[in-house]
Amino acid sequence: MELFDRLERRELERAVLVHVDFYHESDREDIDEFYELVDSAGAEACTLLTTKRQRPDPKYFVGKGKAEEIQAAVELHEADVVIFNHALTPAQERNLSTLFDCQVLDRVGLILDIFAQRARSHEGKLQVELAQMKRMSTRLVKGWTHLDRQGGIGARGPGETQLESDRRLVQVRIKSLEAKIEKVRKQRGLGQRARKRSEIPIITIIGYTNAGKSTLFNQMTSANVYAEDRLFATLDSTLRRVHLPGAGKVIFADTVGFIRHIPHDLVTAFRSTLEETREADLLVHLVDASDPHRTEKIRDVHEVIAEVGAESVPQLLVFNKIDRLEPAVMPKIDRDEAGVPQRVWVSAKDGAGIEMLLEAVASFFKGAFLTVSLTLNVDAGKKRADLYSLGTILDEGFDDEGNSLFKMSLTHQEWGAIQGWPELLKAEVLS
Ligand code: GTP
Repeated sequence: MELFDRLERRELERAVLVHVDFYHESDREDIDEFYELVDSAGAEACTLLTTKRQRPDPKYFVGKGKAEEIQAAVELHEADVVIFNHALTPAQERNLSTLFDCQVLDRVGLILDIFAQRARSHEGKLQVELAQMKRMSTRLVKGWTHLDRQGGIGARGPGETQLESDRRLVQVRIKSLEAKIEKVRKQRGLGQRARKRSEIPIITIIGYTNAGKSTLFNQMTSANVYAEDRLFATLDSTLRRVHLPGAGKVIFADTVGFIRHIPHDLVTAFRSTLEETREADLLVHLVDASDPHRTEKIRDVHEVIAEVGAESVPQLLVFNKIDRLEPAVMPKIDRDEAGVPQRVWVSAKDGAGIEMLLEAVASFFKGAFLTVSLTLNVDAGKKRADLYSLGTILDEGFDDEGNSLFKMSLTHQEWGAIQGWPELLKAEVLS
């Protein structure tokens, strides 16, 4: 489909960055994160221009004088793109692009670009494309579009007919994407029920971008997962099955990183990648201990986890990058009065404290589930239904007399209750 071919990502190259300090917002960290986002998108920052404003200018977002200064910087650095650390309206983007005679990208477009590069799961990809399409539908206007800008220098507006047909195609594509997402969600719902309490515990690593999730994931699984100083090295969960001493087989899952001030339009795409955390048996919440904003970030993560319905999953708070702390902090585990690990201090990069962390993780699973084999009397229909309702059947069949055979994963409590059933002919703990 030609329209979507034209949507192919263009290579961002030399970029002039623009950040505006609005009086009511905190700023410094936004700029650091902005640089990381630009780097993640694969662009090279030539210079950063900043300014202070009370509110955005409707035409150029910044004032006319600042806009001219940006224009001069574009010429000086022979920049290909100007990137704003804020959301621009379609009109502002258009006006600026005309003034600078080069591409203009706002924060939403920048993050979408990164999402598009990093999305891995089917639903993640669909959600990103949907966000791109919705964004494009507000920007398809006569005489100026994202599409024709990608058509190369000198390309201006498409003819009315082309524009109409582009608009129609975008609407059709949005409908089709929405239908696909709905279908994937339904399927996932079914899959979730089938997977509910699998035999193998799932440990999901969550946390802000750059906290060191991929580095930790590698350390804990010795897997060669993509870890680098870039945001969103992982957009969708990456799963790895390992043998954890003291707990047996477990699955580790790496997730997409949080970012501050995620643009409103991208919240759904981002959250859809985190809904899987509901299925986890333990959340390892990783925090960059050297980050001055760590406390607010911990709170943000808790909020989102509650919003996606994963608040009842136990959490282990892990402070990473202790090698950067002054004065030095040694790897350690803080436990509550009952001896349950609450916080672990590590350096994922050096591997310091990793053994301790694995031990803390294992202690959550030690003896948590029993795998049992059960034989139920042939006419125990009601009890069969009770077992089904637990949703933890691993295998089932019948013996020669028509009695039901089950292999199940049970908690100690469930196992205790079932053992008292008169319909139970045989029962054995397998592991
Ligand atoms: P996203 O995939 O963007 O969400 O990031 P992430 O949380 O997976 O972070 P990643 O593992 O990619 O690490 C980010 C940066 O922090 C990399 O440059 C790592 O080398 C660095 N890093 C990770 N752990 C440590 C640590 O213990 N100490 C220090 N000093 N740096 C670390």
